Amino acid sequence: MWRASEKLMETIRHYASFPATGVSLRQMVQFGERPSPGTLFRASQFLSEELPIRLAHRVQELRELPDGLSEMPSIRKVQDWYAHSFEEIINIPRPTLPQDVKIRLARSIRGNGGESKILSETTRNPSVKEGQYRSSPAVKQNGNSSGNGSSGRNGFDSLLNSKGRGMGSPRYFVPSDDPGNWPPELDDYNQRFAKTLQQIKRRHDGVVTTVAQGILEYKRKRQRLQIDSTIQSFLDRFYMSRIGIRMLIGQHIALTEQTHAHHPNYVGIICTKTNVREVALEAIENARFVCEDHYGLFEAPKIQLICKPDLDFMYVPGHLSHMLFETLKNSLRAVVETHGADKEEFPVTKVIVAEGREDITIKVSDEGGGIPRSSIPLVWTYMYTTVDQTPNLDPDFDKSDFKAPMAGFGYGLPISRLYARYFGGDLKLISMERYVDSPLTSSF
Ligand SMILES: Nc1ncnc2c1ncn2[C@@H]1O[C@H](COP(=O)(O)OP(=O)(O)OP(=O)(O)O)[C@@H](O)[C@H]1O
Ligand SMILES: [Mg+2]
Repeated sequence: MWRASEKLMETIRHYASFPATGVSLRQMVQFGERPSPGTLFRASQFLSEELPIRLAHRVQELRELPDGLSEMPSIRKVQDWYAHSFEEIINIPRPTLPQDVKIRLARSIRGNGGESKILSETTRNPSVKEGQYRSSPAVKQNGNSSGNGSSGRNGFDSLLNSKGRGMGSPRYFVPSDDPGNWPPELDDYNQRFAKTLQQIKRRHDGVVTTVAQGILEYKRKRQRLQIDSTIQSFLDRFYMSRIGIRMLIGQHIALTEQTHAHHPNYVGIICTKTNVREVALEAIENARFVCEDHYGLFEAPKIQLICKPDLDFMYVPGHLSHMLFETLKNSLRAVVETHGADKEEFPVTKVIVAEGREDITIKVSDEGGGIPRSSIPLVWTYMYTTVDQTPNLDPDFDKSDFKAPMAGFGYGLPISRLYARYFGGDLKLISMERYVDSPLTSSF
């Protein structure tokens, strides 16, 4: 089994002393649909610095968890994954480039006036309180550098200080507009780099489940029923950071491999015209399927979608479908359990999409009985669920995050809210307790 050496831990501590750099959605898209090897190389270089910093923060934080939590076997396992991935990235050998190529790479930075122009545009994420999900509480931010990201639909890579590390180093994605011939070493390096990222992404597939397992181990050992606010905010930070890391990695792999190159609206995994209706219809179908399967129903409760067919915006479709799928599963469960699985007809759950000048808002309303006021804060707590028996938590059992089961982990809402906040949105819950049979909707 892989173990971190003392020397590696020292390097990790060093990297963890640097703040991470926020990246906006717009910056990622400016990169272009078909980046040249020169552009990709610059992106690889950026990531080869940025990812180790982010991973190092996670390792440090996992090591410093209070109350014996960091000693739980599953937490240690996750910590090793982060340290291992850190090691893999910093050990990718860089190519030795001829002087003229170095000059071209440097020129492409200044050529389009990129750095200062792009990076100065960052503003605060309206959904994240200052420093709320900051990578490491221990990191000192310098002076005025707390702002990050941009707002609303343009989104940003969350949370962090958007300034570089004070060395005037070129930061994220200054695209190279030099499409000329680049030496094969560049392409070679790009391919190797993407392959390593692929491997790392796969290694971390089971992180959410494994950390959840670690928390269960801790709860059992310490005889705790609920987790306290320190652990809750650790989990928020930790999972938010994971979303950011996976966004950067996923985007880079997709750009290198041209995964969506055949699709005109995609830049990597970002879709510049994410069609809300299409994503919602798919989420509805999936949630109803899981519901039928879980309760052995011939037909799941109906879901009505009210959405303009041509409504689209720049987003990561995978994030939107995750949030919709999770909220819809919750609604369907509430409807079925409130009205009884043997009921012939259920009230219809409605999904209403509104397009404003600044925001796209999606309302999901069900007649599943709501939530008593005293429980509302709890629904945002990880591991809070009203399911009696938590489903199988073996991380090898389902590697693709919490998707398959109907309910039971108590992760659906808090993680969906992180996804929403990540790009400047939010997820709010309004309960109408006991609202189960409205005369208006029962006539559908
Ligand atoms: N639409 C809803 N109506 C009534 N209660 C709800 C609704 N949505 C969520 N809840 C309550 O909030 C709890 C937490 O929801 P959450 O999605 O976070 O976890 P879960 O559904 O129990 O498990 P999973 O992590 O598998 O989704 C649920 O167990 C349920 O009691
Ligand atoms: Mg749920």
